[in-house]
Amino acid sequence: MSNFPIQKFESQATPFYYYDMELLHKTLDAVKAAAPDANFHVHYAIKANANPLIISEIAKAGLGVDCVSEGEIRAALKAGFPASKIVFAGVGKGDNEIDYALDNNIDCFNAESLPELQLIQEMAANKCKVANVALRVNPNIDAHTHHYITTGLEENKFGIALEMLRDAVDFCLKNPNLRLVGLHFHIGSQITVTEPFKVLCDRINALITEYKALGVEFSSINVGGGLGIDYDNPDGNPIPDFKAYFDTFRDNLHLDATQQVHFELGRSIVGQCGSLITKVRYVKDGVKKKFVIVDAGMTDLIRPALYQAHHVIQNITSSSTEEEEYDVVGPICESSDCFGVDEKLPLTKRGDLLAIRSAGAYGEIMASQYNCRALPGSVAH
Ligand code: LLP
Repeated sequence: MSNFPIQKFESQATPFYYYDMELLHKTLDAVKAAAPDANFHVHYAIKANANPLIISEIAKAGLGVDCVSEGEIRAALKAGFPASKIVFAGVGKGDNEIDYALDNNIDCFNAESLPELQLIQEMAANKCKVANVALRVNPNIDAHTHHYITTGLEENKFGIALEMLRDAVDFCLKNPNLRLVGLHFHIGSQITVTEPFKVLCDRINALITEYKALGVEFSSINVGGGLGIDYDNPDGNPIPDFKAYFDTFRDNLHLDATQQVHFELGRSIVGQCGSLITKVRYVKDGVKKKFVIVDAGMTDLIRPALYQAHHVIQNITSSSTEEEEYDVVGPICESSDCFGVDEKLPLTKRGDLLAIRSAGAYGEIMASQYNCRALPGSVAH
């Protein structure tokens, strides 16, 4: 069992997110040590977790940042990320958001359509600026992950279809307020096998060759994020195998010495350092089951309800050596408000604290106030 600083939790209202800062720092050290070459640049996908305590540490570690809204750009700047390391992605960027990004001289727009390029050109021209642009390509690759977090298939809304890329490239080359710096890809999230990344490399190589023949060179290739974490074994496998991940790209991408590779990792950086800590309100007997009813719900961690995700659950205060099977459920008026079915836990009673593990990514940031509930707090230690 992982060691939680339970004394620090006593005065904290539940539910709350606990962030293990030592693990965050170890993960950041690991990702930096694993990036094999000076032309490999790691950005943090801030959508995974924008808690100021977390992002200021990531900024200090020197990573760049991938943002998808004005709010995220503001949070990134406030946390200390330099504008020169901010890329702005997103399928539906608003006029006000593009305006804000241009005013703050962010590094690059990852553009997803021709109408978006037209708008960036127009707004940059009005400000007499030249915007760096990378074109997000939909490479039509099956990432073999949950269909809600697959993004690189033809039927997904993301990116410019391969067939339409030529028009977007031509548009950038013709318009003086756009500087085409590269291509951007992202095929999905929680990818735990290397095959989809290899297929992505093949697609990228083919595109680089195709456009080189037309006299178009891309100085930057952004391969997105997607590296998965071990939800089943957070203590045995707390830090993802960044080396194997980067090696896949180093071995399979055919780049020349001047081309830069960007990564946008979210979950793999912050996923394992966070746990949702919740208090047991009642232990209730059902006809066939025993329910542990906790004070956290799908409003605090929506992943189980939305993606049928399973997070390891631990009772961190029970000293019982006897075990029992429980369904661990929240207090919200939805049947999907359930964290685990037939969970084996030590004998559990009212007042015990449970830790719902591997919740550092897409946990706190996706919290809502449904049922007029308060948002969860956070403790970093
Ligand atoms: N880059 C782009 C363009 C993205 O859309 C995403 C995630 C990332 C990078 C970071 O991907 P990561 O390294 O974290 O896999 N809420 C879902 C995950 C949604 C991912 C959205 N895009 C979940 O809880 O599983």
